[in-house]
Amino acid sequence: MPFDRIFLDELSARNDIVDVVSQYVQLKKSGANYFGLCPFHNEKTPSFSVSPDKQIFHCFGCGAGGGVLTFVMKAEGLEFPDAVRFLAARVGMQVPEQGEADRQAARRRDRLYALCKDAARFYYETLWRPENRMPQQYFLGRGLHRRTMNRFGLGYAPDSFHALLDAMTAKGYTRDELLDAGLVSRSEKGRIYDRFRNRVIFPIIDVRGNVIAFGGRVLDDSKPKYLNSPETPIFHKSRNLFALNLAKTTKSPYFILAEGYMDVIALHQAGFDSAVASLGTSLTEEQARIIARHVSQVVISYDADGAGQAAAQRAIDMLKKCDLQVKVLKIPGAKDPDEFIKARGADAFRGLIERSEDHNAYRLEQIADRYDLEDDEDRVQFLREAARMLAGIDSSIEREVYAGRAAKMAGVTAEAVNVEVRRELSVRRKKQRAAERREIRSPVGMAQPKDRALAYADIKSAKAEENVLRLLFSDQKLIAGIETALPPAWFSSPVLRKIYERVLALDQEGQMVDIVPFEGWLAPGEMGLLSSILEQSVPPGEHRQALAEYIDTIRMQRVRDGSITQTGEDPLLTFGRIKNKTREDKRYDDQG
Ligand code: GTP
Ligand code: MN
Repeated sequence: MPFDRIFLDELSARNDIVDVVSQYVQLKKSGANYFGLCPFHNEKTPSFSVSPDKQIFHCFGCGAGGGVLTFVMKAEGLEFPDAVRFLAARVGMQVPEQGEADRQAARRRDRLYALCKDAARFYYETLWRPENRMPQQYFLGRGLHRRTMNRFGLGYAPDSFHALLDAMTAKGYTRDELLDAGLVSRSEKGRIYDRFRNRVIFPIIDVRGNVIAFGGRVLDDSKPKYLNSPETPIFHKSRNLFALNLAKTTKSPYFILAEGYMDVIALHQAGFDSAVASLGTSLTEEQARIIARHVSQVVISYDADGAGQAAAQRAIDMLKKCDLQVKVLKIPGAKDPDEFIKARGADAFRGLIERSEDHNAYRLEQIADRYDLEDDEDRVQFLREAARMLAGIDSSIEREVYAGRAAKMAGVTAEAVNVEVRRELSVRRKKQRAAERREIRSPVGMAQPKDRALAYADIKSAKAEENVLRLLFSDQKLIAGIETALPPAWFSSPVLRKIYERVLALDQEGQMVDIVPFEGWLAPGEMGLLSSILEQSVPPGEHRQALAEYIDTIRMQRVRDGSITQTGEDPLLTFGRIKNKTREDKRYDDQG
């Protein structure tokens, strides 16, 4: 554990889970726990619970769960150490010096940051060498001013297999560091060569201003058009947005979300300083959450083609999950924002933003585009599909407004649309209730962990193992001496055994057994499982008695599957003892 336990305990104590969760979820008290709508999946009835006594949260719907640190990791999309820093800052605590391993990792990352910065400088300087007129012309030919190019640190990777390699090793960087940073690749024969060759270079810069990766574009029509850095210790594609380092200081209340590097750069040059791009992939939930930290509105400005429109639909879902107000801009007569601005200018683009539509209207139009609304049969189909879409809108006011719009589009009364929407809503509710009933009726399904990878091979044993863990967490006195009665090897579930072993170790070290030392230590699915176990209360009665019964169940299951004998011994051990005994007997005989 990289952080000191005493520090983590105080951090957790000062960040009460109910307070922290309340900043994200509206909670209502019911009995000993609080309930609300899960922030980690879409739901209409609350299945997300927070226990102030145990300082854990758990969602019965999606299986997410853990302590306050796990919650922050998930809600803010942070790694464990950053979640620790986040909560420390929240209550004004100083994060103590970390262990040697952490310092080493931090030093290694710092080297990669420095390397990427030097590489960016190398690409930049290379671009402006007199012999590299071609890449200079490429950018200028696409309408970029020199100022813009400098602002984005654009560069050029020369047509060489070792130009960067040589320049960076001359500066003292090792081949391993170059490999780690994704700047060079290794051939099958083990030779190392520059990843980016004869490409114009777009540095990717994180929110703090560090160069962390690169995109490289060919100067002609060859393929692949773009090449990006791979995932590295400092670059996680799904967690970064291109140009966020610039957009974060915008005065605009919205971000413009575009697809490509060139779109974003053209937008900034035209004065739209809140443009960002999701780096060529479809927008991730983490990226949406990052956006939500800076603004409350987003104008999606993706490519006009089918792929761009499909990506926009997915982005809408992600952004809505983060409670962002979403508009979608349509680009008439051009492929993307870059080309539109080049052809029509900044003012025309501003007009597009002003005319951009709420995502609901946009979706309705996307549906309408597929039907001929003059045709009766098509109109019926359009209304069916529109009703399905409208039924998915959470706010009843919004639903009403867009139902009215759908009615106008199809030339029917609003009431006709509303009837269809209500029908659709009731179908949905019935489906959901049926699903809930199924879950309750199926004890086997209920008994299995939500994370399929952790599925129990022996449910009877695993349930007893869960019960043992629940007891040990609730009453730490029970742990002393339990190892002989219940050896970890008897556990049928590897994850439960792992938790059990940690519980034993913590107790030995005289540490408190609660959720804190497991945070950031268990994988998210494992954490969800542990929280589902701890969330249930211990049945009243004599704990030692109950514990003995659970252990007995586990022991019987091991006898059944042949891993131990009736007396509770490992058959191999028993075998070994018998052999030893004979040897002793023999010695005795020899002496005799
Ligand atoms: P140009 O205007 O032709 O330079 O490209 P663009 O910025 O319009 O990009 P496009 O719409 O073709 O693609 C959007 C984004 O997807 C690009 O900025 C890249 O980040 C990414 N992308 C496009 N083509 C490729 C490719 O071949 N490989 C990879 N890895 N990413 C790509
Ligand atoms: Mn383009």
